[in-house]
Amino acid sequence: MAYIETEPTAGEPPVRLGLVGSGWMGAFHAESIARHIPGATLAAIADPALEAASALAARLGVAKVTADAADLLADPAIDGVVIASPARFHAELIAQAARAGKHVFCEKPAGLALPELDAALAEVESAGVVFQIGFNRRYAEDFAAAKADIAAGVVGRPQLLRSLTRDPGTGSIPQAGRTPAWTIFLETLIHDFDTLNWFNEGAEPVEIHALADALVEPAFKAAGFLDTAVVTIRYGNGALAVAEASFSALYGYDIRGEVFGSRGMVQAGRATETAARRYTVEGLSAATPRLNIGLFREAYIGELADFAATIRSRREGAAAPAGTAAPGPEDARRALRMALACIESVQQGTPVRLDRLPAGKGA
Ligand SMILES: NC(=O)c1ccc[n+]([C@@H]2O[C@H](COP(=O)([O-])OP(=O)(O)OC[C@H]3O[C@@H](n4cnc5c(N)ncnc54)[C@H](O)[C@@H]3O)[C@@H](O)[C@H]2O)c1
Repeated sequence: MAYIETEPTAGEPPVRLGLVGSGWMGAFHAESIARHIPGATLAAIADPALEAASALAARLGVAKVTADAADLLADPAIDGVVIASPARFHAELIAQAARAGKHVFCEKPAGLALPELDAALAEVESAGVVFQIGFNRRYAEDFAAAKADIAAGVVGRPQLLRSLTRDPGTGSIPQAGRTPAWTIFLETLIHDFDTLNWFNEGAEPVEIHALADALVEPAFKAAGFLDTAVVTIRYGNGALAVAEASFSALYGYDIRGEVFGSRGMVQAGRATETAARRYTVEGLSAATPRLNIGLFREAYIGELADFAATIRSRREGAAAPAGTAAPGPEDARRALRMALACIESVQQGTPVRLDRLPAGKGA
């Protein structure tokens, strides 16, 4: 794995984490912290849906539950927060957490616009707290192995990169209507942008062209809900990349990454649930992953283990653990900027040049 899971030394107090937002993803993170991360404890949960949050807390033995994140942030016993509320609250919650001196792990996207994200990251910087974003694919074993090969020069100079997300949805996308428009870029393909940036580390995206449509649910198009997208990207080092997403993979979760270079190619992406294969009169088949929390279970735990380990090393005055894959503020910002450029590209019907915009804060 790409993360270093430092075991706490005997007698060391645990890293006390608070969870802000305990819905689908937050509840999974809660269980990871409470049960699977050595040296970390889940000290409190904040969620306006108090009944569900209280039930989760009772199940996991979490002592404190509140409807208001401010209560959790005011608790001096809490070292860091894991933010898994809806995305529209992320930037403000990051800023509040940093001002309260809490280390921050935030689910993607860290904000929905660059000015709000930059304001939040400025608070992180001035508070000197850890900031990590939930680009969990970096912690998946196959993606980490591909990254190690790329870093070791196995594929040579990257020329063509590919990343794709095929999300099973349910066939009818029940979230449409309450899911914000542009989700396909801001919440889904943002993972792919980070994968491409990470695989092609050191190069900046300079040009983006996005095509998107509502091919699964054409009726939602008027509300701006697009379910199918292809994005082409040109990087400053000359490499060309394709990212694509669909919300209707009926065969299960399908997440892949690939780098083709001057000396070879690496691929990541687990197509089957297990290595088992079924041979029958119908032919050959295998079970495919159905849920993101199945496909990326270890990666989700790994990213939080890394966050806890970084907090622990900060506490000891040491540098971040060596070998960490933790995506930080610049990674959050670069991927969001790409998602926003995709929206602009679809709206304008043209490619968007990122290198004509200032790359730094405020762009
Ligand atoms: N990394 C991944 O693979 C992955 C997968 C799924 C979701 N996510 C991300 O996780 C985040 C949450 O998604 P979800 O699917 O769990 O959504 P969800 O709707 O299931 O859960 C959101 C929870 O946040 C609560 N909430 C609302 N406002 C809040 C506030 N101000 N403070 C605290 N809590 C608040 C809601 O009551 C709800 O319980 C999103 O940013 C999403 O993109 C990431």
